[in-house]
Amino acid sequence: MLCLGFTQQLHAFCLNLKKIPALSFYMCGIIGYVGKNSATPILIDGLKRLEYRGYDSAGIAVRGKSAFTVVRRVGRVDQLAAAVAKAKPVGSLGISHTRWATHGGVTEKNTHPHVSSDGKFALVHNGVIENYQSIKKFLIEKGYTFSSETDTEALSNLIAYHYAKEPQQSGTSCFAESVRKSLLHVQGTYGIAVICLDCPMELVGARKGSPLIIGVGDEENILASDVSAFAMRTRNVVYLNDGEVVHIRPDGFTISTITQEEVAAVVQEVDWNIEDSELGTFKNFMEKEIFEQPAALENAMRGRFSDDGSTAMFGGLNLSSKELRYVDRILLCACGTAWHACLVAEYLIERYARIPVEVEYASEFRYRNAPIDKNTLVFVISQSGETIDTLAALKEAKRKGFRTLAITNSVGSSIARETDGGIYQHAGQEVGVASTKAFTSQILISAMVALYLGRLRDLSYEEGRTMVDALRSVPNHVKEILKQADYIKSIADRYAHFKDFLFLGRQSMFPIALEGALKLKEISYIHAEGYPAAEMKHGPIALICEECPSVFLVTGGEIMQKTLANIQEVKARKGPVIVIGPKHCREEIQADEYIEIPDVHDAVAPILATIPLQLLAYHSAVKLGRDVDKPRNLAKSVTVE
Ligand code: F6R
Repeated sequence: MLCLGFTQQLHAFCLNLKKIPALSFYMCGIIGYVGKNSATPILIDGLKRLEYRGYDSAGIAVRGKSAFTVVRRVGRVDQLAAAVAKAKPVGSLGISHTRWATHGGVTEKNTHPHVSSDGKFALVHNGVIENYQSIKKFLIEKGYTFSSETDTEALSNLIAYHYAKEPQQSGTSCFAESVRKSLLHVQGTYGIAVICLDCPMELVGARKGSPLIIGVGDEENILASDVSAFAMRTRNVVYLNDGEVVHIRPDGFTISTITQEEVAAVVQEVDWNIEDSELGTFKNFMEKEIFEQPAALENAMRGRFSDDGSTAMFGGLNLSSKELRYVDRILLCACGTAWHACLVAEYLIERYARIPVEVEYASEFRYRNAPIDKNTLVFVISQSGETIDTLAALKEAKRKGFRTLAITNSVGSSIARETDGGIYQHAGQEVGVASTKAFTSQILISAMVALYLGRLRDLSYEEGRTMVDALRSVPNHVKEILKQADYIKSIADRYAHFKDFLFLGRQSMFPIALEGALKLKEISYIHAEGYPAAEMKHGPIALICEECPSVFLVTGGEIMQKTLANIQEVKARKGPVIVIGPKHCREEIQADEYIEIPDVHDAVAPILATIPLQLLAYHSAVKLGRDVDKPRNLAKSVTVE
C-alpha cells in the first residue's frame, strides 16, 4: 500500500470484516470488465497474469449486441487466446476465468463462464456451492436445464430464476437484486462476476471466502481475483469483504452486504511494481525470481533495524515489548514451502530468543484441537496470504482467543486482514508457482524476529550487533552465489536423468534439505526426499546406490564433522554426492560435486544454502523440458482444503 503501514491497513481492513466459517474453495482466477474500451483484450491480458492461480482450462464471455459470445478452451490461456482471436468477441462488458479443477473434470463443458439455460446470465465463480444439488433439483423442476457437472451452473440458473420472478420495470435494477437474492440461498463459498444480457454496461460481483478486488479506472472498472490482473490499467483498488455484493458500471459502483446494508467503499492506492509481473530478459518467472533475491532480501530489511544496529524493529506487530515478554511459547503454522520456513524459524527463535517453538502444518492444526498454553503466540507464514488451511488455522487460533501474527507477502490478502498484526515481506509479486524469493525472505524475517525477541530477553547488545551485520551482508552473499549459476547448471545437466535424490542436512539445514527436495520434485517431477542427515541410517540408506545422488547441506559449525561422517557412509555405498558447503571445508570433503557458500553467521546460512538448491532444481527441470513456472497439477495459491 502506498500510504498505509501494516497496522493502519489492518485497522482499515479489520473494521468491516465479517467473520465466516472457513470452507473449501476452488483455486482459480477471475476477471470482469465494464467500461469505455473493448473488453476482450483486457480480459485476455488479465487472464494471462492470473494464470498462475490455475491453468487447466480458461474461458471468456463478452456481451455483444444481442447475445453473449462465449469461448472456452481446455488448456492454457494461450489456447483460449488463439480461439478468441478467431471468434473476435466484440463488446465493452465481459467476464473471464482460468480454472484449477476440483469439481467436475477438465472439459470444455465444465469450463467457466457458465451461461444460464435461458441465455440471460453468464457467470464465473471461485468457490464451492455446497448445496448445489438441491438448488439444481429445484431448478430442474422449474424447467431450467444443465449442461455441465459443475456447481457453478446452479448459481447462474438460480440468478436467472430470481430475475424472471422480479417485476421487470427495468432490467437494470433487477440484475444486482437477483444476484443478491440468489446468494441468500447459497451455502458454501464464492467469488463471482456476473453479467446480464439485459444490462449492457453492468457487472455484478460478490465475495464470500474467495478474494475479489475492484480496480477503479477512468470510465472503466474491473473486478478480479487479484491486483496483478489489472495493475497495468489502475492502481486504485477496493478490497471487497466477505458477504458483500458490488454493482459496477463504467462510472462507479455501489457495495452492499447480501443482507442489504450499505457499505462505504474505501479506495486505496496499491504500490505495484509492474516489472514484477513482466519477464524482462529472463526465460521464465522462476529464474527471474531466483535472481531477484538480493533485492527482495534488501526490501525485507529496509528500515527494520534500530539506529544503533543492535536489534530489529517492526511497525505492524501490534504487541508491546511488555506483551511480547509474556509470550511463553510460539506456535508456527503454514503449508508447503512456508512450512519449511517455519521449521527454520523454530530453530532460529529457540536458539536466539530461547522461546520454545512448535511448528504445525496448518491443515493439521485446524482440525487437531491441540492443547495450547495460554501465553502462546500463534504465528502464521504465507506468501499469498490466501492459503485456505493457513487462513483457517489463523481463524481457529483467534477464535480460541490467542494473539496472532503473520508474515505475508500479499498486502490486503485474507491473512493480512485477519491477523492481529504482522510483517510484510515486500518481496514483490511471486509469479512462478514454485516459491523462491518468498521463502528466503521468510527466513530472513524469521531471523529478524528471533533477533528482536532475543534482544527483549537474553541476547546481548554485542550479539545483536553481530547478528544485524550478518543479516545486512546476506544480499551481497546471495549475489555472489548467483554467479555460480552456470556451474550449477552444468551439475544439473549431468544429474537430471537420475530418478531419485536424497537431500540431507542437520539442524537448520534439515528444513533446507526438505525444501531442496520439494523444489526438485515439484518442478522437475524427479522423486526426492529430504531427511535429517543422521536419520539416514535408520532407513533411507537402503536407497543409496550409484543411481541415487545425495545432496548434502553442510554448515561449518560444531556438527560439521558429524555430517562429514554421513557423507562417508554414502560414498562407501557408491552413492554420488553433491555438497553445498562452506569454502573452507572443500578440501576436507570428498564430494563428487562441491558448491561453495560463504562462511557466515549460523543465523543466515540456511538462506545462502537455499540458493544453489533452487538453481539445481530449476536447471534440472529446464534440462528435462518441464514447464517450470506452471508445473503439472499445481497452482500458486492453494485455496482448496
Ligand atoms: C512450493 C510452494 C508451496 C507454497 C504453499 C503455501 O514451492 O510454493 O508449497 O509454499 O502452497 O503457500 P503460501 O505461502 O502462499 O501460503
